[in-house]
This record gives sequence, structure tokens and C-alpha cells, in this order.
Amino acid sequence: MKLWKGRFSERTNELLDKFNASITFDKRLAEYDICGSLAHVKMLAKQNIISKEDASVIEDALKRILSEIKSGEFRFNIEDEDIHMAVEVRLTEIAGSVGGKLHTARSRNDQVALDLRLYLRDELAKINGKIKDFSLGLLELAEKQLGVIMPGYTHMQIAQPILFSHYLLAYLQMLLRDYARFKEIRQRLNLSPLGAGALAGTTFPIDRRFTAEKLGFAAPTENSIDSVSDRDSVLETLAASSILMMHLSRFSEEIVLYSTSEFAFFELSDAFSTGSSIMPQKKNPDVTELVRGKTGRVYGSLIALLTAMKGLPLAYNKDLQEDKEPLFDTLDTVNAVLEIFPPMLLSMRINSDAMYSAAAKGFSTATDLADYLVLKGESFRNAHEAAGRAVSYSISVGKGLQKLSLEEFRQISPKVEEDVYGFISVEAAVNRRKSYGGTAKEQVLVQIENAKKLLATFD
Ligand code: ARG
Repeated sequence: MKLWKGRFSERTNELLDKFNASITFDKRLAEYDICGSLAHVKMLAKQNIISKEDASVIEDALKRILSEIKSGEFRFNIEDEDIHMAVEVRLTEIAGSVGGKLHTARSRNDQVALDLRLYLRDELAKINGKIKDFSLGLLELAEKQLGVIMPGYTHMQIAQPILFSHYLLAYLQMLLRDYARFKEIRQRLNLSPLGAGALAGTTFPIDRRFTAEKLGFAAPTENSIDSVSDRDSVLETLAASSILMMHLSRFSEEIVLYSTSEFAFFELSDAFSTGSSIMPQKKNPDVTELVRGKTGRVYGSLIALLTAMKGLPLAYNKDLQEDKEPLFDTLDTVNAVLEIFPPMLLSMRINSDAMYSAAAKGFSTATDLADYLVLKGESFRNAHEAAGRAVSYSISVGKGLQKLSLEEFRQISPKVEEDVYGFISVEAAVNRRKSYGGTAKEQVLVQIENAKKLLATFD
């Protein structure tokens, strides 16, 4: 039913009904819409804008609609256009003409802005909870695997040996920032747009602080024009989701690579890998590939809404209805990813032998040889050059740095002594990197302790 039919003499075209409607997707906001209406009707009565009796009839009917929605009885009708009108149509079916008083001093423009904020506030809290749980799981894995050495890469070339836990904690840091980003969005959006009206406020003596407080907001928004045209919190959610997905996509890429038979650092559990319909030997990392793939889709949502909004004049324009599908799709994606990624990761088998032997390859301790020569009095530049010659010599004779004899080392630099071997072992290379944030075990333990303290402050 068209609640705005007064001005029109012809029926709307069916094509328009279909094209214009958002009810097929904004029905997700149904419970929040009713929640907002309940606060609004209480305020209308308190301010004597409608009578207490009318307000209680409306409240009862709204509660009934809420239970119809929860039980799945509610009929979503495309002709009602959106969830806001669908609820109002049902309200007048139940309560009669009194139902028509609910929309006093309100517009769908402030209503939809309110519904979105209420919805986002809950959704962001759920995402924060999932990021926290994942972080705790990652931290536990880092503690459990402490001591396992792997190669660290730059340019995807073996660079220096690192602790596997240090590597995991790099991803933990990203997650901790992701958590903070979502949390900040929650804090920033916590203002009520209800009462902004169509754009200019209302002639009725409403009490915006009352509804804000009833709905758990810190305060009402400051500017009615901005209130109905602002979708920053949706955009911020899409941006924070894009960054989170980017982090998990990088992690996914590494899991794909490191679980190949060429690397064999990780082996996915059977429960989280898939087979091939033709090649019997295959164990495919579909989960991580999908996470990587879905990242593009989340970026797409961010770009879609940014683009939809870039030319919009103030205040509300119907273009803004295009905020919902990208938002819902992104939240579905992020939730699904945050559900499956942690158990997939935590159930992987960690092949510490393969990681260790890879860490010893590729002259990963050549920097340590240079550092050693610096300690023996060489300038870093000279030391770097000598270590480079040692690498080139090792390649020519086909053995690792650790396998060179003292005589061979001395050919390269007379400063080398017997203690060089203690310096250029993989373990020494790791444990001498004691600078703050470095890969030495004692520093990794500091990172673990600090992350634990921070996580304890997360809600
Ligand atoms: N379904 C609309 C949306 O999602 C609700 C607001 C409609 N406002 C209007 N003036 N037509 O944006």
C-alpha cells in the first residue's frame, strides 16, 4: 500500500514498484525499525504531541508486529516499498487509523538513518567480538609454537631467520588495529539522528535527547541536514572491512603458498581443505582462496558506495538506498570469513622441520656475518662487502656459510675467528635480534605479554 498516495491520481507502474523497492533487503532492519518507533511514540506521548491512549495502542501494535517479524509470520510486500512503510501499513491494519499518528514529527529519512545506526552498532560489536576471539586464538598458537624457526622473506627471497611466533604476531598486530578501527566507528556513530525529520527538523515540540537516551545513544546528532544525508558510518564500516579483508587475504596468500609441497611449512587439516574431482592426490586450500577472492568483493562495496555518494547534493536522495546491499553483503562476508578463518588456521599442522631447514638456506645469516665483522672492527660497508664475497664463494663451492672452514673465511677476511660459527647459526641469528619488537625469543615474549594486556581491555 502506498502511504504517500494522496498527491497521485494514477497507480504506479509495477516496474517502478519493483525498481524502487528496498524491502527485499532492508527487511533486515525490521527489528531496529520497530525499536526506533517505540522510542519515538513514547516521546510523542511524553511531549503531548499524541495522547497517552493512542501511544499505548500504537506501542501494543508495534510489539505485536515485532513478534510477527521474529516468528516469521510477517508478510513483506513489495508494494509497501520499504521496511519503514511495511511496518506502518501493518500498524494501521492492527490499530486502525490511530496507527497513522506514529509518523508525526518524523520522516523516513531520519528513520532510515536511525535504523542503520542501530543495526551497525550491534553488527560492529559482533565483529569486534569475533576479532577478539581470533586474536586470542592466534596468541595461543604463538605461545604454543614459541621456539619454532622459519625463514623471513623480503621480495619473497629468503632474508633473515625469524621465529614462527613472531610471524604470527605480525598478523595479530593487524587484527588489534582492525579491532580498534571497528570500535572507533561504534563510538563515532553513537548519536541519534531521530528527529532530524525530512531534513530541516520539525515544527512539533519533540525531545530528541529523550529518544537518543532511550535508544542508548550518547546524544542527538547536531545538524538535521547532515543527519539525513550522512552515511559515513556505513563507509567507515566498508573501509575497515576492506582493510581487515586485505590483512586476511595476505595471510591467505601465505597459507596457500606455504602449504604447497614445494614449501610444506603448513598442512591444512582435512576438515578445512577440499579435494579435486579429477586429481586424486590434491588437497586444495579453498578456504584461503575464497578469502582472497572475497576481498575484492568487499573493496567493490566500498568503491560502489563512495561513488554513489560523491556527487550527491544535500540532503537525502534516493541514491542513498544503494548503501544497504553493499553493507549487508560486506557484513555477511566479513562474518563468514571471521567464522571460518580461525578454526582453519588453528587446525593446520605446522611442519617445523621444513621451516627450519628453509630458514638455514639462502644464506639467511649473511647479515649476521656482516654484523660479526663489524663487532671485530670493520665498518658496516666493508663488512657487508666481505660477507657478500663469502656468499659468492659459498655458491661457487656449493656449500652453506656454516660449512666454510676457518681458512676459507680468513681468505675473505682475516678478522674472522673461531667464534664466527656461533654467530652465523640460525638460532644465534634469531636470538641476537633483541631490539624492541625484534625476533629474539625474549622480545617475542614481550610482544605476547603486551598483546595480552591490550586484549584484556577489549569488550
Ligand atoms: N528505502 C529508503 C532508503 O533506504 C528509505 C528512505 C526513503 N526516503 C524517501 N524520501 N523516499 O533510503
